Amino acid sequence: MVPPAATASTSVQGSHQAPVSVGSPSAPAVKDPAKDTILTPRFYTTDFDAMAAMDLRPNEAELEAICEEFRKDYNRHHFVRNEEFEGAADKLDPQTRKVFVEFLEQSCTSEFSGFLLYKELSRRIKQKNPLLAECFAHMARDEARHAGFLNKSMADFGLQLDLGFLTANKAYTYFKPKFIFYATYLSEKIGYWRYIAIYRHLEKHPESKIFPIFNFFENWCQDENRHGDFFDALMKAQPDTVRGFTSRLWCRFFLLAVFATMYVRDVARKEFYEALGLDAREYDKEVIIKTNETSARVFPVVLDVENPRFWVRLERLVHNNETLRAVDAADSPDLIKALRKLPFWAANGIEMAKLFLMAPIRSEAFQPAVR
Ligand SMILES: [Fe+2]
Ligand SMILES: [Fe+2]
Repeated sequence: MVPPAATASTSVQGSHQAPVSVGSPSAPAVKDPAKDTILTPRFYTTDFDAMAAMDLRPNEAELEAICEEFRKDYNRHHFVRNEEFEGAADKLDPQTRKVFVEFLEQSCTSEFSGFLLYKELSRRIKQKNPLLAECFAHMARDEARHAGFLNKSMADFGLQLDLGFLTANKAYTYFKPKFIFYATYLSEKIGYWRYIAIYRHLEKHPESKIFPIFNFFENWCQDENRHGDFFDALMKAQPDTVRGFTSRLWCRFFLLAVFATMYVRDVARKEFYEALGLDAREYDKEVIIKTNETSARVFPVVLDVENPRFWVRLERLVHNNETLRAVDAADSPDLIKALRKLPFWAANGIEMAKLFLMAPIRSEAFQPAVR
């Protein structure tokens, strides 16, 4: 799982943080988790009884088929480090190193957040809903692998995330099952498109492959794609989650929240994408368009991302966010900061409302062939 809302850039964290101590690859220092912001990965919890009681019969055959795919464990031997990693970290200049480590941390936290949720779900519903529990257990296996592989790359830079500490100390956001479905479906599918877009770009531009971990993205993204397909099938087993007026509103809300958060965050850390020879805005645009298109397979509505006003409004969010960060970094009392931030928070609220109110596209009109 690659939740869309990932860590804010270091500049968002402010200039008051203590410098990060760096160990060595053989004895990595434990890195303090990045400060929580609206852009950081969330850890989720849900109503386990409602999940356990879920009737899968409306789409049981598809879920069983997906579980069978999970059992095959295609990537069992994929995440094995090779000699390419030796000395690779030393080749990065300090600026690239900094943005790349942030990327690793953000991705590791996101993958780990998926692991925790899926693991807990599989454990809690095992007795009452064995098929669902088994699917979650397989997905937890994949996410643990992804998080572990990223954490090993962090160790190449002399840092490591303390995942046990994160488990015990992160705040957990409670979502009803149907909101878990929307959020995790989108994060899996957006994760697929993010990984594959980077992989395909680097295939064409091998000179920009700054670290060997990118060689693993092709098979890796297939895990995320399968996870997304699982949630697609699960929503179809619970058709009320993707039917009716309220569901349409919620789907729009989640699509917007996920796309806007990713866009604002990625533009704020565009240096990472530059290091790969990518333009953050172009990259995000491609990922958003593809994810929106994919979502039409299960969501009743999707966003009108071809409308130029959609991107104009996202740019206004980027601009407001830049000002908010500048205010945060300034050396003034908290109250003054809050007062100076207020108009930009309000402006963000208004832009989000305008984005939300833009006419959506009915999925059957958008992608009749696949529905
Ligand atoms: Fe993952
Ligand atoms: Fe995943």
